[in-house]
Amino acid sequence: MYSNHLIESDRNHLIHPVTAFRPHERRGATVLASGKGMYLRDIEGNELLDAFAGLWCVNVGYGHESIVEAAAAQMRRLPYATGYFHFANEPAIRLAERLVELSPPGLDRVFFTLGGSDAVDSAVRFIVNYYNATGRPAKKHFIALDKGYHGSSTTGSGLTGLPAFHRDFDVPLPWQHHIPAAYPYRSPVGSDPQAVIDRSVADLRAKVAELGAENVAAFFAEPVQGSAGVIVPPPGWLKAMRDTCTELDILFVADEVITGFGRTGPMFACETEGVSPDLMTMAKGLTSGYAPMGAVLMSDKVYSGIADGPRPELPIGHGFTYSGHPVSAAVGLEVLRLYTEGGILANAQERAPRFREGLLDLQDHPLVGNVRGVGLLGGIELVSDKAEKTRFDPALRLPERLTNAAYRNGIIFRAFGDGTIGLAPAISCGADDMDRLFARLRKTLNDVLDEPEVRREVG
Ligand SMILES: Cc1ncc(COP(=O)(O)O)c(C=O)c1O
Repeated sequence: MYSNHLIESDRNHLIHPVTAFRPHERRGATVLASGKGMYLRDIEGNELLDAFAGLWCVNVGYGHESIVEAAAAQMRRLPYATGYFHFANEPAIRLAERLVELSPPGLDRVFFTLGGSDAVDSAVRFIVNYYNATGRPAKKHFIALDKGYHGSSTTGSGLTGLPAFHRDFDVPLPWQHHIPAAYPYRSPVGSDPQAVIDRSVADLRAKVAELGAENVAAFFAEPVQGSAGVIVPPPGWLKAMRDTCTELDILFVADEVITGFGRTGPMFACETEGVSPDLMTMAKGLTSGYAPMGAVLMSDKVYSGIADGPRPELPIGHGFTYSGHPVSAAVGLEVLRLYTEGGILANAQERAPRFREGLLDLQDHPLVGNVRGVGLLGGIELVSDKAEKTRFDPALRLPERLTNAAYRNGIIFRAFGDGTIGLAPAISCGADDMDRLFARLRKTLNDVLDEPEVRREVG
């Protein structure tokens, strides 16, 4: 009765993110009730291994008492403090300082947001302000990657390169442009790493030349394109793109909303290639999803450009009521402590070889065309014909079949629209959890392959 009432009420009132409204009403919600470690329980009492860390965010896993205590203590002491009118609060100051210590060199200034979309949106606004303040007002065009995801704000959704976020929303805007993703499995130049990198650099140069470098503000990229289906560019790609931006005199923004906080191994993916972006956006793992928070980090070049503009005494008109929220900041500080002193980042690095082995083991499954990953971030691209790399007919509704079979097998992962499976388990995950994850995943693939309509298409 209780669960029926909740599902009925959800149907009638709750609008879900990135969901088809009417089909959701017909299907009804799966209501999650509790979580511990990397396991969730729904209101029907089913236990589900969460192989997606909520939405690539619960990096430390569910149920950490020390985080709950940090939040409760801060709520008792001071539940809210504005950052306006020169006010500040201790957790926000300490978290900003800690992020500067942990991030690539040169990123010394931190602006807090509520999540990733407003971090991207803030980065765009700061960049526009920077070029106006430094006397280059023509530099207003932005370039990003096809299939990239930069959130769903009014501006960020146009930098995003996924059709679902453009359709019927009148974006991209005229100043937003895209170049092809560095996608080794489907690259027109083949999978040779250097060829893929050279192609991306050439694409960026060509786009900047077409627009005129004097009109281009910035290039935005995720180090690994999560929502594209975990597209992993070849090693060296990030550095090559960063260097090309420097040479072309455009700002380079690394969107580490997914890749930050140990997801790919180090604290930030930029570290792997010794890259310092001009700005960096982050969210998700910053608080491990225990409280909403994101951030934009910026270099002194950008900060000082804005600070020392033609009207330095006037306020910079950008801010949110909850910028630097003390409870979220207290949560962030404890989560960062768990990553470092708590050994969770080291655990992620220890588990990575087994994760990679689990992905590679799946390569010979009849449904699997390509596996890819870095750290504890993985993608499994399913195809109906391995030699031709043919995607499944959308009429087959493969993502829905995968999600349903996964639920029956007690596992949650991301099933992208094109039939790619995304994995991002908690980076605190144990060795047994990892074995269970791959056992349930293989069983799910077998079950879906056994469905007659799928079997027919695989041939
Ligand atoms: C790379 C990237 N940027 C931005 C966002 C938007 O973050 P949020 O959903 O917190 O607004 C996401 C969310 O998945 C993301 O993956």
